[in-house]
Amino acid sequence: MPILKPPAIPPSEITPPAVWARRRELLKAALALAGTGAGLTLGRPLPAASPTGAGALEPIANVRPSPQSTDEPPTSRDDIVGYNNFYEFGTEKEDPAATAHTLKPRPWAVVVDGACEAPGQIGIEDVLTGFTQEERIYRLRCVEAWAMVVPWVGFPLGDLLKRFKPTSQARYVAFETLLDPKQMPGQRRAVLEWPYREGLRIDEAMHPLTILATGLYGQVLPNQNGAPLRLVVPWKYGFKSIKSIVRISFTATQPVNTWNQMQPDEYGFYANVNPDVDHPRWSQARHRMIGDGLFAPKRKTLMFNGYADQVASLYAGMDLRQSF
Ligand code: MTE
Repeated sequence: MPILKPPAIPPSEITPPAVWARRRELLKAALALAGTGAGLTLGRPLPAASPTGAGALEPIANVRPSPQSTDEPPTSRDDIVGYNNFYEFGTEKEDPAATAHTLKPRPWAVVVDGACEAPGQIGIEDVLTGFTQEERIYRLRCVEAWAMVVPWVGFPLGDLLKRFKPTSQARYVAFETLLDPKQMPGQRRAVLEWPYREGLRIDEAMHPLTILATGLYGQVLPNQNGAPLRLVVPWKYGFKSIKSIVRISFTATQPVNTWNQMQPDEYGFYANVNPDVDHPRWSQARHRMIGDGLFAPKRKTLMFNGYADQVASLYAGMDLRQSF
């Protein structure tokens, strides 16, 4: 277990995510107006402020399209790789693209342990070659009311979990990000309790929509998006999508998740996209699609991020206002 220290910066002093989002949109709008003349870019997608990461990354071989994908147009790659939440590399949305080059995603291994018959570890090369890589175009909806459509490359998390033979004690799955302040300089500041941690109930983890993503837009993941391996749970808020995973543990009891530990009134364990349950500081009923531009109307948020047909049954009988 890591030794947890109280945060040096109280949560109240962390810039609320909605404020960053607005700051960035204003910056983009200002740049667009200054560069091209008023009115020319309004209502159209604005260029990304930071195209960092757009260079060639290793392509992933033999990626097959997945029938699980949405047919919505994907968000531009520049926006996906230039607008990130990854506190290990800073608390501003532009920070990870500028600073995550210090992360070394190879060699990399993920330990799988806890309530299973075959605990062990798996290297990233075996992850890339040992599972059928699919392109899955999923929505990512963040709690502070912004969203993207991302052409992830990945495979069902359940395919990996089954290899380690979970026992009947395995009711939950816990995930941990790398803890290494040399590679992740943001960990030198106690803005969160490091390492970043997440958890799912075992049926959520085994659901075919839940993937481990190894890439996006056909290439290996850029560091700022969680290289070399991150979780994607498309019906849940973005903070469940833990990045740069080094440990996956089967547990009998509900694991800690970082944002719940930091601000339990605001971020629950379940964190399902739910337009009917507002965050204490903003509405969850509508969201802005990154790339739409500051003046485009917000879109209506769908229950379970539009995946209700596939996942609503997981929560039958639960009060989602309590389990938010
Ligand atoms: N994982 C780690 N390790 N650290 C983080 O700060 N932020 C989460 C999630 N995973 C985060 C993380 C949040 S709040 C969001 S919205 C998504 O990553 C953002 O993923 P993206 O940058 O690929 O869009």
